[in-house]
Amino acid sequence: MSDFYIKRRSVLARKMSSEKIPDEDLKKILAAGIRVPDHGALNPWKIKVIKGEKLKIIDENIILTEFKKENPNASEIQLETESKRFQRASVILAVLSTPLEHPKIPTWEMILSSGAVCMNLLSCAQSLGYAAQWLTEWYAYNKKMLEYLGGRSEIDKISGFIYLGHKVEEPTERRRPDPKNVINYL
Ligand SMILES: Cc1cc2nc3c(=O)[nH]c(=O)nc-3n(C[C@H](O)[C@H](O)[C@H](O)COP(=O)(O)O)c2cc1C
Repeated sequence: MSDFYIKRRSVLARKMSSEKIPDEDLKKILAAGIRVPDHGALNPWKIKVIKGEKLKIIDENIILTEFKKENPNASEIQLETESKRFQRASVILAVLSTPLEHPKIPTWEMILSSGAVCMNLLSCAQSLGYAAQWLTEWYAYNKKMLEYLGGRSEIDKISGFIYLGHKVEEPTERRRPDPKNVINYL
């Protein structure tokens, strides 16, 4: 196994820079990212690629607008933060879990597969040296956002937003699980 997996680390969205990511790399990340285990090859997930002016449009028309609705007494600082959430990234890959009815394959497995898409997109981007982070924040649970991305309310869910950008500095290490707390041999 390459050292990549031992050292792999996300870069916080607020620490990444948002210059353009070449289309060629984005295509590679997407092509490799969707190669995930998927019981029955049902593709029970979808990816919306959000970049360019769409980032600002969603910040203003969905995130900030919905935040104001839910937080009428928000401070100027909070509004400033909410007005720029998506613009922290160069590209955002919104992963939707879109389960379907199936006589044999449980919904749970379809949901797991969409998590695999998120992790795979993240790793693929990081393997090319990009800064990337899997975030949900509050707006992954917002109905307007789900519908804007083409999700069916009450059925589909936003599994995550994969923020992609450039590293400004190497990230510091994060607290990692102690293997003996989480791994046991039968
Ligand atoms: C489903 C999911 C949602 C997450 N949402 C957030 C979030 O909203 N805010 C946050 O600070 N971290 C969030 N994280 C955590 C970070 O993406 C990530 O776990 C952390 O930065 C360390 O990642 P690494 O192990 O790739 O270095 C989320 C992780 C997952 C799996």
